[in-house]
Amino acid sequence: MKVQDHYKKFDLTNKVAIITGASEGIGRDMAVGLAEAGADIILCSRREEKLLEVKEIIENTGRKAEVYAFDIQNVSEIEGLKAFLKARTDNVDILINNAGYAVTKPAWDVSENDWDSMVDTGFKGLFFCCQAVGSIMRDNGYGKIINLSSTFSKSVVPGRSVYAGIKAGIDHLTEALAMEWAPHGIRVNALAPTAVNTPSRKVTLQGPILEKVLARIPLGRLATPEDLIGAIIYLSSEASDFVTGQTLFVDGGWVAAS
Ligand SMILES: NC(=O)c1ccc[n+]([C@@H]2O[C@H](COP(=O)([O-])OP(=O)(O)OC[C@H]3O[C@@H](n4cnc5c(N)ncnc54)[C@H](OP(=O)(O)O)[C@@H]3O)[C@@H](O)[C@H]2O)c1
Repeated sequence: MKVQDHYKKFDLTNKVAIITGASEGIGRDMAVGLAEAGADIILCSRREEKLLEVKEIIENTGRKAEVYAFDIQNVSEIEGLKAFLKARTDNVDILINNAGYAVTKPAWDVSENDWDSMVDTGFKGLFFCCQAVGSIMRDNGYGKIINLSSTFSKSVVPGRSVYAGIKAGIDHLTEALAMEWAPHGIRVNALAPTAVNTPSRKVTLQGPILEKVLARIPLGRLATPEDLIGAIIYLSSEASDFVTGQTLFVDGGWVAAS
């Protein structure tokens, strides 16, 4: 095979990608990155007005984008996403399960509402998105699902017990779905970043907390959303067709050093 044929395997032209949590942070940047790699994008989260801003950015890259506003905690709204997709496209190639919600507080103080918000967004919602979009992929015999995990799936800090449990669960769920759905051509992987410098994290990652985090990252800096784009293109593309059930850590060495 020629070198340019290897490069072509990373090309996402005419692929259709769905990204949850696309209104801001990592999801927003990944949506634009996948569009720049050639994909048409379905943008999902609750705030339609923010998704419409991202849609405009993507359309300026020459790709198509559509918006589906939903609350991922509500399974009937996820079923609505499936109907929305079926009405628009025959092929759904890529699902990025990125929407998440984190509460940072001592385990003693976690309320039932904190638990439900984190689990229903980051774990239950993620599973039912896999199920809804995965069933379309099954009919096509091909698909790529990428679940957003975290370094906290393999390491812990005080105040993130439930979040860490969800992310560890995501890595294991990823393996289980990869095994179950491999016969249908669906590859399921997870992407696990360390702390990423997004607007929501800028509020918490300051002063002594920032210093502690940086001390745990051998490469000596926070991740940027751009650090994740190469990995997400790889996992979304034919270049990773023989990879399934894996969690790819993009963490500056955090887990290796833990
Ligand atoms: N940032 C980090 O340091 C870091 C590190 C490791 C892993 N991660 C993981 O990466 C993912 C994105 O993180 P981020 O920092 O970019 O998060 P973020 O800035 O807080 O954005 C979260 C996204 O999820 C959407 N969302 C939240 N609740 C939702 C709901 N009920 N229904 C639908 N959408 C909902 C939000 O959109 P709406 O408000 O419009 O609904 C938003 O687009 C998460 O899974 C997170 O755990 C982040």
